[in-house]
Amino acid sequence: MTVNFPPGFLWGAATAAYQIEGAAREDGRTPSIWDTFSHTPGRTLGGDTGDIATDHYHRRAEDVRLMAGLGLGAYRFSVSWPRVQPGGRGHASQPGLDFYRALVDDLLDHGIRPVLTLYHWDLPQELETAGGWPERGTAHRFADYAHLVAEALGDRVELWTTLNEPWCSAFLGYGTGVHAPGRRDDLAALRAAHHLNLAHGLGAQALRAALPSTAQVSVTLNSAVVRARTDAPEDLDARRRVDALGTRIFTEPMLRGAYPEDLIADTAGITDWSFAHDGDADVIRHPLDSLGINYYTPTVVSAGTDNDRSRTDRLPWPDSGIVAFHQPPGKRTAMDWSVDPTGLHELLTRCAREFPGLPLVVTENGAAYDDKPDGSGAVHDPERIAYLHAHLDAVRRALADGADVRGYFLWSLLDNFEWAYGYSKRFGMVYVDYATQTRTPKSSAHWYAQVARTGQLPPY
Ligand code: FCB
Repeated sequence: MTVNFPPGFLWGAATAAYQIEGAAREDGRTPSIWDTFSHTPGRTLGGDTGDIATDHYHRRAEDVRLMAGLGLGAYRFSVSWPRVQPGGRGHASQPGLDFYRALVDDLLDHGIRPVLTLYHWDLPQELETAGGWPERGTAHRFADYAHLVAEALGDRVELWTTLNEPWCSAFLGYGTGVHAPGRRDDLAALRAAHHLNLAHGLGAQALRAALPSTAQVSVTLNSAVVRARTDAPEDLDARRRVDALGTRIFTEPMLRGAYPEDLIADTAGITDWSFAHDGDADVIRHPLDSLGINYYTPTVVSAGTDNDRSRTDRLPWPDSGIVAFHQPPGKRTAMDWSVDPTGLHELLTRCAREFPGLPLVVTENGAAYDDKPDGSGAVHDPERIAYLHAHLDAVRRALADGADVRGYFLWSLLDNFEWAYGYSKRFGMVYVDYATQTRTPKSSAHWYAQVARTGQLPPY
């Protein structure tokens, strides 16, 4: 049966600055933590860096034409902070802003709505050297940066997002250290989480002050879909811990105005949270126009090998002994992530239930597969079509169950620099030959274009 999505539903694709732009040292751009990290031996697979990436900085016009050809209604991209405010403080870089003005103008000329994310992980290195997200000052720098971008682009961009996946910035960047800046320090991770929350609130205020009243302000979270391996109380407690640190650490202060009590108790051995000052809660809780949701795969947990569940001096991530993570059964993508569209339905309906009246947007969803051109140069990716179909069907079911979902953004428009995995993982609906920078839409791109043009999910 063919299924119709609501009229006005936004169909888009997403990217992030460091993953596609390249031109790392052009027009006054200074290094971000990802330049430093990727240039440090052993941090990314094969030593890959974003120096050139997909060369989008120089191929912007071609890429927008590509999107238009695929019938996309919206494009979610991020602004590179060190490109528009080198060093992370002070004056704006006009060439940097000009790049985004030109990008947005191209999009609007082609009838594609720009959806701008201010921060997709590329903190100016100077701000990390000054302490990074564990320091309060970084949140204030972010608000200044938000103001500067809003002044420059507020006349042409309506949809604004403060942060992308602050969980990754805090816990992968400062906790496990697998992302930039690569620190392993539980206290730093919790401080970073709070200052990212604060940056979101201050940034949202700065946006509202500078933007027309019609502008919409949002944040994108990768809330964890956590399942307990059994119903045993210790496994359910493991799920609760990961839910607190993976999801509620952001949703509760941003949308309800306070950190969850169980989170404070779970982390009492690490911090008393005195870095959260009086008044912060009111700033962080900023009325939003929508909530962005990124979903890829669920997490299955059980109690870890450390049986002392009263421990409050470690975060429950791999190696901590507090929680054990398991591979769910079933199909996997090239990331080894299990394919489970029920998680997307669960997440959307949970958000709809917990935050009634707040529109939701799927700001990222997609899959990496080992795509290769065939003898004729075409790239067939039936697994990605199956993945997308199943997940769009989950969105449809969430809509039918009352979730107010306004749009879907496929990750990603192009194959790109997949962070610590370098160029080894291909998430694009468009294949990129990195040697020549040739773009070839995969069969999934043609399939998705049809969905975007018609607003209909065909039978599968
Ligand atoms: C998300 C990131 C995005 C991309 C996808 C695969 O966590 O926001 O940049 O790497 O995962």
